[in-house]
Amino acid sequence: MKFFIDTANVEQIKEAQDLGILDGVTTNPSLMAKEGIKGEENILNHYKTICEIVEGDVSAEVISTDFNGMIKEAEVLANLHEQIVIKIPMIAEGIKAIKYLSGKGIKTNCTLIFSSGQALLAAKAGATYVSPFIGRLDDISSDGINLIEDIRVIYDNYGFQTEILAASIRNPIHILDCARIGADVITSPLDSIKALLKHPLTDIGLAKFLADHNK
Ligand code: G3P
Repeated sequence: MKFFIDTANVEQIKEAQDLGILDGVTTNPSLMAKEGIKGEENILNHYKTICEIVEGDVSAEVISTDFNGMIKEAEVLANLHEQIVIKIPMIAEGIKAIKYLSGKGIKTNCTLIFSSGQALLAAKAGATYVSPFIGRLDDISSDGINLIEDIRVIYDNYGFQTEILAASIRNPIHILDCARIGADVITSPLDSIKALLKHPLTDIGLAKFLADHNK
């Protein structure tokens, strides 16, 4: 399973990269705004900075909602760096754009996936990744993990190559559930990734080993 970090915060991206387990980064307009990155030039430069820190795929989201606008933005973003993946919203114009871009060999990430039907359409269009939002489904008393399970079954039935990129991760249990089901990728805040490191018995055991060594 690949580990992506879901942030535009350079310090957190560097920390995850230094840990040695990072396979990529996902961003979205809200995450860019959270870091105060505004204006086209600053946004493009920020994507370049992120690509220089990590080795894997970096999702950069379009803000157009019409086919022509999405393609224009996608071409600029794809030319920015070979690691850029074009993140496209799950709307009809987005599906057309994914089909067009996949035909050109440009990687895409279909975002805002909340149903298995949406995931099926994105795979049919040739998306490289689909991003089902687990946490936002849980927030409305739906079951985000069930959606990952359904998409896994559907993709395996037909051998779709589209990778399931589980997004909107809120805690380490989400990550483990995704691993159990066989999601291809999780994209997570740094805290949930670091929470996987911790176990009180590890801390107690290490303290005893060190104390015994010093006796
Ligand atoms: O990047 C998309 C997704 O991961 C957003 O998560 O926490 O805003 O629901 P969240």
